[in-house]
Amino acid sequence: MRPNTTTTSETKPTPWLGIPQTEAESNQQTIAEREEYRKRLELLYRVGKKVGSASEVTRLLGQILRMTQQTLRASASSVLLIDQGSKELYFQTAAGKAKSRVKQIRLDLDSGIAGWVARHVKPLVVNDVGQDPRFHKEVDKATGFVTRSVLAVPMVWGHEVVGVLEVLNKLDGSGFNEQDLEASTALAATAAGAVSNARLHQAVLDGYKSTVKALAAAIDARDPYTCGHSQRVMEYALLGATSLSFSPEELQTIEFGGLLHDIGKIGITDSILRKSGRLTTDEWSVMHKHPLIGVNIISKVPFLQPTTDLVLHHHERFDGRGYPDRLKGENITLGARLLAVADAFDTMTTDRSYRPALGVDIALGELAKYIGTQFCPVAAEAFVHGFKERPTLRQVHILPAEQ
Ligand SMILES: [Fe+2]
Repeated sequence: MRPNTTTTSETKPTPWLGIPQTEAESNQQTIAEREEYRKRLELLYRVGKKVGSASEVTRLLGQILRMTQQTLRASASSVLLIDQGSKELYFQTAAGKAKSRVKQIRLDLDSGIAGWVARHVKPLVVNDVGQDPRFHKEVDKATGFVTRSVLAVPMVWGHEVVGVLEVLNKLDGSGFNEQDLEASTALAATAAGAVSNARLHQAVLDGYKSTVKALAAAIDARDPYTCGHSQRVMEYALLGATSLSFSPEELQTIEFGGLLHDIGKIGITDSILRKSGRLTTDEWSVMHKHPLIGVNIISKVPFLQPTTDLVLHHHERFDGRGYPDRLKGENITLGARLLAVADAFDTMTTDRSYRPALGVDIALGELAKYIGTQFCPVAAEAFVHGFKERPTLRQVHILPAEQ
């Protein structure tokens, strides 16, 4: 009879992978498979230590689940993380037939097997869930999956429990054993390290964002007509960048570049910057220096290095008649071409000292009119597409449930 809850070694070793036929074959296979497992775990551990962004950690957790299922010969697995605000567990990554259906489910930390494991910081093997009152049937009801056995391990980093690694149903119908538990514990530690690293990375990034937003607000505050301009340019540029499927890192660069594109205006005198009438030729030549002044400011800040090109070239034109370098076509980076479109659209759709705001349709018409001369076709079309599809602006979140 199978025990309903066991972490004992009553069951004789299921090897790491596969079912051996004879004792000799068993030994040989087990040694080779253990070595393979060790190598793969080491690799995952090394990757886990380097994980920075949310997208990297999601990718790594997916790899960990694949390796967990393959190693334990199980039919489903998931990483549940703790939402410290609501005291709930949510499925960050899942593998198996019901993986897309579990993503919407949130579990009370005070109930269920995963909740018990997170609260007690202890692993748990339940080889007949029907006999264990801690088993929560709600997930099976919602997904149609039939859970027979569960192995759940707390994901601990330092003194903090960040989540639970859960593995369900051995493919051969047997129960989970001590070796399964040992393998899962090592994988859970790697997963916990990766999640913690990504959260630290995000905390640093949030600090950077606050600094950049404060700088952008300081730029906009100098001119009543440009109040909120940097924020809107950033959002418009992100709409275009999202349409073009920029990576999370590229979106981050667009976000900072959008907010800071006019930072060089800090170095332009008020008599020019706030002048209500038309600028003279000399005043325009001073104004045209703001991209270069901006780059000089941000080039001393390491985390802003990727944005320097956007700040320097947001006034270049696709036909080569822009400034400061008169770059043409694809010699201007796509991010800077997107910023040029976003900047022009916001300028057209807000009140200026010399004219009231244009309507959105008129502004979109103006963009279309100057495609190929002032604006890059790819950037302009991506912005228009993104603008019409809004508000689907993708935010950069840490560890959202995998989509
Ligand atoms: Fe500018």
